[in-house]
Amino acid sequence: MPADSTQRAGISGPLLSSDATLTDPAQTLRQTFADAGQDHVFANWDTLGERARRRLVRQLETIDLGHLAQMQGAISALQEKPQRRLAPADTFALADEAFPFALAEAARAVAPVGERALSRGEVGVVLVAGGQGTRLGFDGPKGCYPILPISAMTLFEVFARKLLHARAHFGRTPALYVMVGNHNESATRAFFEQHKCFGLDEGDVQFFAQGELPALDAQGKFVMAGPDALWTAPDGHGGVIEAMAHKGVLADMRRRGIKFVSYLQVDNLQCPVADPAFLGLHIAEGAEVSLKVVRKQDPSEKVGIYCLDDGVPGIVEYTEFTDHDANLRDPAGRLVYWQGSIAVHAFGVEFLQRLADTRTQLPLHAALKKVDAVGGIGQAHKFERFVFDSLPLANKVVCLEVPRQEQFLPLKNAQGPYGPDGVRESYQQYWKQALKLARPEQPEPPIIEVDPALCENARELSGAIESRVIDTSQPLRLAQGSL
Ligand code: UD1
Repeated sequence: MPADSTQRAGISGPLLSSDATLTDPAQTLRQTFADAGQDHVFANWDTLGERARRRLVRQLETIDLGHLAQMQGAISALQEKPQRRLAPADTFALADEAFPFALAEAARAVAPVGERALSRGEVGVVLVAGGQGTRLGFDGPKGCYPILPISAMTLFEVFARKLLHARAHFGRTPALYVMVGNHNESATRAFFEQHKCFGLDEGDVQFFAQGELPALDAQGKFVMAGPDALWTAPDGHGGVIEAMAHKGVLADMRRRGIKFVSYLQVDNLQCPVADPAFLGLHIAEGAEVSLKVVRKQDPSEKVGIYCLDDGVPGIVEYTEFTDHDANLRDPAGRLVYWQGSIAVHAFGVEFLQRLADTRTQLPLHAALKKVDAVGGIGQAHKFERFVFDSLPLANKVVCLEVPRQEQFLPLKNAQGPYGPDGVRESYQQYWKQALKLARPEQPEPPIIEVDPALCENARELSGAIESRVIDTSQPLRLAQGSL
């Protein structure tokens, strides 16, 4: 996609008029917003004090009015799903779909390539945690949610301990970059500080904030949060590329010699942070973007679908997928579009840098959401960019199927299978099965928890516990150091 070359409202510092005298920046801004049909943002100007005026101007300067056309386009696309020419896309499918599962032979064969990159420190982990977690209804960053059943370990600590697991295996701790939003940045930083980065070196953990976008009301006007502020919300995880470029993350990666990004969402409890087979496949195949998928459970499962869209590999979000396509089956009765994205990617740093250098902007997607703004709660169109819209821009995309039970257990909602109870239940099922494989002769413990620093999956568990005595008559916590 070409860079957004449209007009930007942003004006920094006082302006010089044609006769080289200083003019009021607010006046110029006012005209620009009026030309865009958004003069209501200045409706309270005359009643505002000096500080409030400055605050408003500062915010308006960051608003890209060129986005308005994209926003309107996104609203139209929401109302009538665009016609697409879809086809299934190639995937490295599981070699064994039965527990304890086996990845495609091609991926297992190149795991040493991924291991080498990890041991050379060429992999950085980007953990996106800038969402608002509205569906979970938890007061605080989602990563602070205590999820493990015995220790009540939080999602952030789970990911930190997975990095310690990587250190034990590859001799290097991949640097961690946590993407936060303005709304949860200070709480996230404080949480890591309070817990001394969960044993990671402070210098290996960085936080960077994603951008925000305004919302539009039914008349296409920017929603106001107050007399001196537009209502804004995080710009979606697709904001990660711009944020990585502007907040120095890409530069830091280059400085450290990081060539590949392992990208994950904070909600997925079972997601490995540094998967050598996946990274090896990405590197060996010369991909610019790679992704992991699981077989969809049913046609209506709310996951993005990996497929060819007009011949180009990409992910079509479930909200944009038609029922007809979602329900298509092959002669054997299996779903034609079975590849559900679990939102895990590998990116080449060079690829991300290219998008940043060419100022490529990912498309906007609209959603009609409740907005608590001036005048009470109403509905408005919110806008987000999706990181997977970078797939069509890559010279090569590689897709790997992974076992759902082993790698996909997201905490999304307050209730149901992806609520805290549902997640803990699936977690129990997986790890009890894993223990049964390692210790077939022992009875099942009433409850089990496995330290993410100890092992990440059933295949690793036997090696991790070796011949040690394990008491399964009570709640069992298998942890590094206590075995
Ligand atoms: C997402 C994917 C979907 C995929 C599913 C797998 C989108 C639009 N869809 O669905 O294709 O199958 O995960 O679990 O992403 N986040 C930010 N900043 C934001 C918005 C979100 O960092 O502005 C982070 C959240 O903290 C969270 C993740 O992105 O970690 C997922 O966002 P969410 O809105 O929950 O996506 P889903 O609808 O669950």
